[in-house]
Order: sequence, then C-alpha cells, then structure tokens
Amino acid sequence: MQLGVPRPSRFHVSVVLPTYNESENIVKMIDSVAESLPEGTHSEIVVVDDNSPDGTADIAAEYGQKTRKVHVNVVRRKGKLGLSSAILAGVHSASGEIVVVMDSDLSHPPQTIPRMVHELKSATCDIVVASRYVKGGSITNWPFKRKMISKGATKIAKYGLGIKSVKDPMSGFFAFYKHIISGIKFDPIGYKMLLEMLVKVRGARVKEIPYTFTDRRHGASKLDSKVMLDYVRAVWRLYRYGRQNSTEKRTSVKFLSKVGRFYTVGASGLLVNILGSFLLTVLFPEIWYMHATVIAVAFSITTNFVLNKLWTFEDRDFALGKTLFQFGLFAGFSAFGALIQLSLLYFLVENNHMDRILGGVLAVAVASIGNFILNKKWTFKEKIWG
Ligand code: GDD
Ligand code: MN
Repeated sequence: MQLGVPRPSRFHVSVVLPTYNESENIVKMIDSVAESLPEGTHSEIVVVDDNSPDGTADIAAEYGQKTRKVHVNVVRRKGKLGLSSAILAGVHSASGEIVVVMDSDLSHPPQTIPRMVHELKSATCDIVVASRYVKGGSITNWPFKRKMISKGATKIAKYGLGIKSVKDPMSGFFAFYKHIISGIKFDPIGYKMLLEMLVKVRGARVKEIPYTFTDRRHGASKLDSKVMLDYVRAVWRLYRYGRQNSTEKRTSVKFLSKVGRFYTVGASGLLVNILGSFLLTVLFPEIWYMHATVIAVAFSITTNFVLNKLWTFEDRDFALGKTLFQFGLFAGFSAFGALIQLSLLYFLVENNHMDRILGGVLAVAVASIGNFILNKKWTFKEKIWG
C-alpha cells in the first residue's frame, strides 16, 4: 500500500532510474530527484532493479513508502539483463507523458531535470539530451581511459551511423515524450538506448543542453568489456537497420545516389528525345524535322522534370504554383546547360583540337553536373552536399 503521496490517475513526468548494486546511492538519488522536480508537476520515479545482490530494490521500495516527496514505483527483474533493456522496461511501466532517463549513481545532476522538462514543454523538440560535449558541458573525475572510450564510442556513432547533429549520442541522461517511441521495435542490447532512439525515431527534433558529469563516489561502474562488445554489435545492427529502412544518413552515399538517379533520368530524356522526334516525323510526314526536334526537346524536358521531382529529389508536393515555378527553373537550367555544353564543345574541338567524341563526352559531363547542382540547390531547395 502506498503511504506517501496519493497516486494521481496519470503522472506528468516519470523519472526512470535503472539500478544494479546502487544501495549506497539510491536513497540520496530519490531525494535529490524529488527535490529537483518542477513544482506542481505530478511526478513519479520508476526504479528498475535487476535483482541487485546488495538489496537495492528493497531499499528503494522501503524508502518509497516512507517518503512524502514523490511517488516511487519499483520494477524488479529476475537478473542482470542490461542497461538498455532496464530503461525500456522502466519506460513501459512509466505513466508520465514525459520520461526522463538518468543513471542512479549521482553522476547526472537532477538539477538539470527542470530545464529538460521545460525544453520539451516549450514544444520545440521531442527529445532532450543532457550533453557533456556541447558548450558549457563537461566531465569531472573521469580517468583518461574512460574519456577515451567515451570519445571513441561517440566517433563510431558519428561516422558509422551518421549521427552528426547530436554531440553526445552516448549520453545516459535524456528526456522525451513517451508517445514518440510507440510502434518502435527496440533491440535493447548493451548501453545505447538513446542512440537507438536517435536512429529509429524518424523526424524527431532533438535539443542538447549542457551538464557536468561527475564520476560516482560509491559503488562501481558496470561498463565492462562485454558492454563494449555489445556496443560494437549494436552499432552494426543499427547500421544494417538504417540501410534496410533506407534512412541512409551518410551524406556521400545520399549525394551519389541522387547523382546516379539524375543521370539515369538524363539518359531516359535522351531516349524520349530521339524516339519523340522520330515518331513525330513518322506520324506527321509534312512536319519540318527542326520543328519535330523542338517539340521532342520540350517533351523530354517535361518528362525529365517530372521524373527528377518524383524520383531523384523525392518531392511529392505538386501544388500548382510551386510546381510551375520549379518547372520554369528546371527548363531554364536545361537551356543554360545546353549553352554551356555547346560552348565547351566548340572550345575543346576548335581551339584545342580535341577529338569530337571525347570533347562531346566531356562537355556533357561538365554541363550535366552543373545542371544537377543548380537544380538541387535552386529548383528543389536542397543542400548541395547531402
Ligand atoms: N537495471 C540495470 N541493469 N541497471 C544497470 C545495468 C543493468 O544491467 N547496468 C548498469 N545499470 C545502471 C547502474 O546501476 C547505473 O545507475 C546506470 O545504469 C549507469 O551505469 P554505470 O555502470 O554507472 O555506467 P557508467 O557511469 O560507466 O557510464 C555512463 O556513461 C556512459 C557514456 O560514457 C552512463 O551514463 C552510460 O549510460 C553512458 O552510456
Ligand atoms: Mn556511472
């Protein structure tokens, strides 16, 4: 029976505290979280304990009954099943619409929680990451080796998974709206819960705020070589997940894949062009071949435009005004490209005596890459590199 705070039907904020052998920290932790929670919010603490031999779960449950400061819910699991899965279990039993996840060894300052909740409520983001690596954030008391491991893991996430905008994706201190993870299948191995969210939650707006990590005073870290191996395994799985779900985040691959599509469309345009003028002269024998070519060119520019819009740049917005404007730009750039191509060909062959075929290929290559970049940037309003 709960003796302390009466349990409201729905909490607003749930703080998830995973514990394994944190008997010396958990009471102080609960107190300090309770004191930091924004006033007036219905809050709860969810302790997820993996049957710690030092009795953490009992201590937490007992203190939870006594304290009047906050509601404490203790989830007990059979054994040490890992940090990510503990967090996930905590999130599942959390009833708050906002969930805050943090370590229970006082490394993460609970004083940062109000700011995290505030950022979420200000409706400019869906995930808030408390970060050691943004301006104002730092680490105290960590040995050089731990700093190196952390930096290394962060670099792997950055280059392996394309997590570029978040400086501290390995953070164990973060908050989010619970609804954003509904329907997501987690693969909770090791320590990398946040990283998995960053990869799998599409279109989430993430904000980082600084904090100072202070190494624990009591108990020991559970980050061992198995956790590190699990990390490599997890990154590899997330990498494959990213490819399967075509949420390709590596800029070079995205860029090259678009270049490839743009050239394919260009080749199809050439075909449309040749076939078109041939068909026109067959169907209307009295048409002047120059007129037939002009019509075919206009036709192939149109098919190129539609294909590039839909396929290359994946722009499904066909609002009339916008589409006509884009078409105008696209046609303009095509004409401009043709001009560049002709001038370059003339220059290469006449002035530099280059072979006509070679000159032709070079001229097409230069003109089309220019065309690609102009359309990417101006017609479809994308960043050039990406
Ligand atoms: N229930 C449960 N089960 N809790 C666990 C388990 C587990 O298997 N493993 C660890 N924990 C709890 C610990 O009791 C602690 O509250 C928290 O998870 C963090 O574990 P530590 O062992 O203290 O991690 P750390 O300080 O070495 O690592 C910190 O920095 C990493 C990034 O460099 C943590 O913040 C990590 O989350 C973070 O990835
Ligand atoms: Mn720790």
